[in-house]
Amino acid sequence: MLIVANWKAYIDDLAKAKKLFSVSKRLARTTRCSIILAPPAPLLGTLARNNTSDVAFAAQDVSLSTGGARTGEITVGALAAAGATYAIIGHSERRAAGDTDAIIAKKLELSLAHGLIPILCIGERERDNEGRYLASVREQLTDALAPLSSKERTRIIIAYEPLWAIGKAASFAIMPNDLAEMALYIRKVLAELLSGKSSARSRVLYGGSVEPDNARALVAGSRVDGLLVGHASTDPRLFALVVKQLS
Ligand code: PGA
Repeated sequence: MLIVANWKAYIDDLAKAKKLFSVSKRLARTTRCSIILAPPAPLLGTLARNNTSDVAFAAQDVSLSTGGARTGEITVGALAAAGATYAIIGHSERRAAGDTDAIIAKKLELSLAHGLIPILCIGERERDNEGRYLASVREQLTDALAPLSSKERTRIIIAYEPLWAIGKAASFAIMPNDLAEMALYIRKVLAELLSGKSSARSRVLYGGSVEPDNARALVAGSRVDGLLVGHASTDPRLFALVVKQLS
């Protein structure tokens, strides 16, 4: 089971970051979960220095620029040098800040070129009765993967995060049976985009209001390979409870 902890901008304190890292190291040692932490970039650099634990690090985003006179940009190269081995790409909060499907496709390419494994976030804004939400998920997935080679497509981890379920309490998350249906649909679209049987190896995660109360049911009731946890990953006690639900 793969758990990605998206700290967003919740954590800006080194002591808290270190505490979460040490809890995560213990959980990675004592449970069957693989843990990837996505701290704000400067904290990632500090925590990942000389990291020999089982915990891996993800950038929360990458810059489109590859270097040069681009004040304030954090390039994929700099993130890889800081210790990131994964990159969250296309999170809805980055899409809201201007990331289009074309920009996301470019960021996927850049991440892969620097050896970072992308965690591509997709998800509909709202649910409707006509199935338009399925079309929007298909479009996001297709637009992001189409420019990549078939080998590159196999390296992407998909995180399904419906916008309507992000940043709330467990009771607002998706229902396990609806998640099971969507996970199946995403795998069907992946099977169209990936060659041969390689989509069977693609990992599909769920994110959106995951808390200790719903983590187990969400995973047990669907075929997702793990969870992307936002607010509940920034409290050591809650995060440990989420991870233990899956062990
Ligand atoms: P949440 O965030 O768990 O706070 O809903 C998830 C995400 O946006 O990645």
